Amino acid sequence: MPTKGKLKSPERFIRPMVRKLDGYVPGEQPQSKNIIKLNTNENPISPSPKVLRAIQKAADSRLRLYPNPTAKPLRSALAQLHCCQPENIIIGNGSDELLALATRCFVEPKSSGTKTSKEIARQTIQYFTPSYSLYPILADIHGARKNEFKLSQNYKLPNKTSLIKGKWNYQAALTYITTPNAPSGAGYKTKDLAKICKDQNGIIILDEAYIDFAEETALGLTKRFSNVIISRTFSKSYSLCSQRIGYFIAHSKLIAALDRIRDSYNTNELGQTAALATLTDLKYYQRQFKRIIKARSQTSKNLTAIGFDVIPSQTNFIFAKPKGLSAKDLFIKLRKQKIITRWFDTKDCRDWLRITIGTERDMEKFILSTKSIVKKHSQR
Ligand SMILES: Cc1ncc(COP(=O)(O)O)c(C=O)c1O
Repeated sequence: MPTKGKLKSPERFIRPMVRKLDGYVPGEQPQSKNIIKLNTNENPISPSPKVLRAIQKAADSRLRLYPNPTAKPLRSALAQLHCCQPENIIIGNGSDELLALATRCFVEPKSSGTKTSKEIARQTIQYFTPSYSLYPILADIHGARKNEFKLSQNYKLPNKTSLIKGKWNYQAALTYITTPNAPSGAGYKTKDLAKICKDQNGIIILDEAYIDFAEETALGLTKRFSNVIISRTFSKSYSLCSQRIGYFIAHSKLIAALDRIRDSYNTNELGQTAALATLTDLKYYQRQFKRIIKARSQTSKNLTAIGFDVIPSQTNFIFAKPKGLSAKDLFIKLRKQKIITRWFDTKDCRDWLRITIGTERDMEKFILSTKSIVKKHSQR
């Protein structure tokens, strides 16, 4: 230990870039009970009984062993499901881990000697705003350049003319597209995504975290274009946030490159077991998707009826602009009634509230509370 008086701040050991970094802010995970939690897009329904049994069975003395380093059984089962080979799949500790791995694999960090537009493109990560708020943070952590393209008010996918006008970089090393979009919930057509993928001379990650609640998947684009990666997760539709299992599907050469820089034991054995068991009971989950989609449509109708602006959603959440009071006020007032939604304090999002679809009862309570808050506010 240094002697008193000679203490110097340990801050000086931290890279300046890391000192300045704003980390990702996850949604609140309250510990108290009796809360209606509509803030982090978790599935309100339990994993299938088969999954719970599989985890319980696997929780024994084998916990002392390292997990399967390549998650081979899970990759094989997923390959069968998606009509591809295990070599087309990599498993991550949540899809977040793989999104980060992609920055290290495909993007050069910024360097002072950069001159040409080709060099700039090699250092560029691009994405739409608003979309998943982790992307800019991953770019900052990697020291990459960011090219943000602002979506128009209805959050639709821009056409080529708008992209060119908005300085979309068709040479960017890495492009993330959240499809369906988050936080708006807007869905994108595969034929429109295909047009961007075809013209893009760099990797495109189609982040399909919410695809099970959408009308169509762009999975087929991985067979048409060698620069396309599909990102999926077991967190949302398969009720497995806690187990941290996500995966990429892509050309085997891209997967092999990502695999080279992956930690050997990046996913744990119970997570792999839970995901494998999930795939044996897909019918259970398909029933839950229908329930959530029905509750989504009912909630959207109810909010529209009281004058809220609601973006048509293809996800397990809705993005709504309240009428009569600000989104922030509604967020605070709902919170006082133990209903937690998500409000993002950014220029693009602060007029809107993101509401995860909970159980039918949760949504009834949410609507009742919202109506009474709006009514009280209008009487003031
Ligand atoms: C668009 C999007 N992609 C990826 C993720 C990360 O999911 P995972 O739990 O697999 O890391 C999220 C989580 O909120 C998300 O909203």
